[in-house]
Amino acid sequence: QIKGFVFDLDGVITDTARLHTKAWHEIADQVGTPWSHELADKLRGIGREESLDIILRAGGKQDAYTDAEKTQLATAKNEHYQRLISTLTPQDILPGIPEFLHDLHEHEYLMSIASASRNAPAVLERLGLTQYFPKIVDPNCLHTGKPNPEIFIKGAAILGLEPRQCIGVEDAAAGVQAIDAAGEISVGIGDKDVLRGATIVFPTTSTLTLANISGRLKEAA
Ligand code: G6P
Ligand code: MG
Repeated sequence: QIKGFVFDLDGVITDTARLHTKAWHEIADQVGTPWSHELADKLRGIGREESLDIILRAGGKQDAYTDAEKTQLATAKNEHYQRLISTLTPQDILPGIPEFLHDLHEHEYLMSIASASRNAPAVLERLGLTQYFPKIVDPNCLHTGKPNPEIFIKGAAILGLEPRQCIGVEDAAAGVQAIDAAGEISVGIGDKDVLRGATIVFPTTSTLTLANISGRLKEAA
């Protein structure tokens, strides 16, 4: 029986995936890596340092920067990202999400956040959603990022639940893989070809409701 929901943040609760993308695009331009949608998709759900490595490798520049220079690039990206999120308001919560969270709360489902972002608490604060998420996985405690299941296993554990009692919600292919490997039901938000491994996929958050999830899970079973 499902008792909890473990949410990714960026691209699920709010469209900050777009802001991460914007900030990374600028770094890619700076280091001479050609930008593409495929590269942007690959970075979804991936931690800061690893994302930079992927960008450098995509441009054949993996050995062109010292560790100190890489730290500078990652810091520059983060400062840009923090400027972008400083203007977020509750208006930036994705369609259907406020109603969905309210409904989950009313039905006494437990909820946690499994985001690789060290900016997640600041984003939730700006969106006015902290009251729904007293439990957030601290990405600093993780050994391995998505697609490793660790973050989603922790997301269940901080709720006092087993993974099989949880539904994980993700917009990233790496995130869906992490949910599946954790042994949770995976709900993908986005393109069903990109999120192939997901138990069920919704194209956008606007149709994400408890009724639709249980209907789709019955179809999928
Ligand atoms: C999330 C986002 C990624 C981001 C990562 C680290 O997983 O989907 O795009 O790179 O968090 O975020 P941070 O804010 O700590 O750089
Ligand atoms: Mg995401």
